[in-house]
Amino acid sequence: MRKNIVAGNWKMNCSLPEGKKLASEVIHMVQDEVQNNAQIILIPPFIHLTGIHSLIGSSSNIFLGAQNCHQESNGAFTGEVSAAMLVSCGASHVILGHSERREYFHETDELLASKVKFALDNGLTPIFCCGEKLEVREAGNHENLVRSQVDEALFGLSEEEIQKVVIAYEPVWAIGTGKTASAEQAQEMHAFIRNQIASKYSQGVAEEISILYGGSVKPENAREIFSQADVDGGLIGGASLKSRDFTNIVKAFD
Ligand code: 13P
Repeated sequence: MRKNIVAGNWKMNCSLPEGKKLASEVIHMVQDEVQNNAQIILIPPFIHLTGIHSLIGSSSNIFLGAQNCHQESNGAFTGEVSAAMLVSCGASHVILGHSERREYFHETDELLASKVKFALDNGLTPIFCCGEKLEVREAGNHENLVRSQVDEALFGLSEEEIQKVVIAYEPVWAIGTGKTASAEQAQEMHAFIRNQIASKYSQGVAEEISILYGGSVKPENAREIFSQADVDGGLIGGASLKSRDFTNIVKAFD
């Protein structure tokens, strides 16, 4: 049964003290106020993982994620971090294929296929991101683009493996722009992705996979977006840096 998830992608923000303060606030607010059992994933920069992990402690619904990992186990890859290293710091999840990594670091679906497989082999849950740029949507090619992203990066996985993946649909035109996809647009794309998985694997497999929406999710719009049949939560950027906003987004599932 697929889970409701709210993940906070801090991107390249927060010093360690700022990150610890933010995480502590979120952890306390969530414990005191949240009534649903959504999974919450805090995704700070690599160097804060250990510090934030010790704050999360044994909380059963708050998890730790990283924003990327390398596709090799170890070696001469200066500046890179392996999946096993993330696990050793307490991470259970890793974002792969965020549009910022595709755009600024030229990550391809072929590369992402190997990262996803490697993350799974190391026991991490990949949060695989897909989504189209504005010009692609305006040209009416958004479904084709997302289909090829999902196909190329995920469809080499076995039935057992793909059920461990979380997918995040993040239309690039909605990221950090304040322009959210409408609830209908989000539902349409999430249903499209789920149908694609059902066609490749089975309806049962498709029903197991959480598909998150990302792109200018705020406390004001979270409830409507999350209430869509195929939207299982959100991957939150800007609003995850404010403990009150992030907690209120989690409370949209109450
Ligand atoms: P914003 O919520 O700031 O639009 O960012 C979304 C995102 O990129 C999450 O990964």
